[in-house]
Amino acid sequence: MKSSRRHCLALLSAASWAQTNHSAHHAIPFEASTGPAPHARRDIAAMKADDPQLEMFRAAVREMKRRSAANKLDPLGWYQNAVLHAMFCATNDFDLQVHYCNYFLPWHRAYLAFLERKMRAVISEPSLCLPYWDWTATPRIPEHFFGDRNPLWDSTRLQSPSSHLPADFIDVGPVLRAPTFRVFAGFPKRGASDPQVEGILEQGAHNNTHNWIGGNMAGFPSAGFDPMFGTHHGNVDRLWEAWLRQGSKRQNSTDPAWLDYAFYFHDESGRMVRIPIRDILNTESLGYRYDSLDFTSIAPASKKADKSKRSYVHIRFPRNQVPAHPYCARVFIAAKGQDIAYEAWSPEYAGTVTLLPVADHNSGYLDEWVSMILEIGAEQAELIRTPASSQLVMAPVSLRGRQTPFTPLKVQQASLEILPDA
Ligand code: C2O
Repeated sequence: MKSSRRHCLALLSAASWAQTNHSAHHAIPFEASTGPAPHARRDIAAMKADDPQLEMFRAAVREMKRRSAANKLDPLGWYQNAVLHAMFCATNDFDLQVHYCNYFLPWHRAYLAFLERKMRAVISEPSLCLPYWDWTATPRIPEHFFGDRNPLWDSTRLQSPSSHLPADFIDVGPVLRAPTFRVFAGFPKRGASDPQVEGILEQGAHNNTHNWIGGNMAGFPSAGFDPMFGTHHGNVDRLWEAWLRQGSKRQNSTDPAWLDYAFYFHDESGRMVRIPIRDILNTESLGYRYDSLDFTSIAPASKKADKSKRSYVHIRFPRNQVPAHPYCARVFIAAKGQDIAYEAWSPEYAGTVTLLPVADHNSGYLDEWVSMILEIGAEQAELIRTPASSQLVMAPVSLRGRQTPFTPLKVQQASLEILPDA
């Protein structure tokens, strides 16, 4: 793997960030922007080639890459920004890892907001907004990311401009219907012995899209290097806002331990900022908003009709059964012995997930278990209540540029728990 040396370098240099990040006495408190954010983040796929926002985005990435080419340690460079993501996402260090729990959404939101501030600063364009890529509306890599001398191009991607994301990879129905913050955004992270559980948004559409793009985007150590990273996460962040907009029980956690938990980021003038999650919950105070919170619904109409009686199940099983990582698979729950139609939206289908590689150093707590949350129908919920008569099967999806033999994985020793609605 030609990029593995670069990953090592990234992690080494990330280690120096760790120390600064945790010497909290240097940090200044985050100061919220006041008043409505003047500019909105927009969908990059809907921009014309000469759109001023697209031009600013390109210019800022070009300038950040130029800075890193001159000095890898430049804190406003593209390299350091990518390494910062690796630091918190490509690690088994329990204290640092922000995936697999409900720090995922706020950490990535703040990471993007600080990236946006750096981008504004490096090209002195306070009106720059990080674009997002709505993959539900445009399920392929937007053309603006292609082209040889384009700073937005990343040669490691495995998809062409005409490749289409499979619809089930990006079905946001189960995400937007998620009845509770735990289901939507992941479980709280307390002790290392607790299950580390990603929300349904993270393990599904988020992971699926990362892995489908391939190359740098398919792994945590390298994902931040691809300029698509920010636009992909912009859409994930926008889904958070869309989920909340539905109201009723769809609210952020009110747990003080979560609200008071703080992250550290360097700002555009090199100061370390301490930002507790409670200050991350309002996008306007971070200096941005979205032009729209609408998503295209993907599942066939026949499937949506029977979604009324749905529940969410948390599945956990030993990771050593998974033959390879990343492992992108459609998950099926059926009666024991029953023939399964291995197709998205067949009656036995419960969702599509991607298990990304976990780092294999330090504590190893993520290496032991796979956890996932899926939305299931009433019949599947009934089956789960009698585990002896049901089967859980994962069918790998073959992707362009990857060798994945189609061997359904009959998952053993799984525990399945229906999650409460409230
Ligand atoms: Cu920290 Cu989409 O990854």
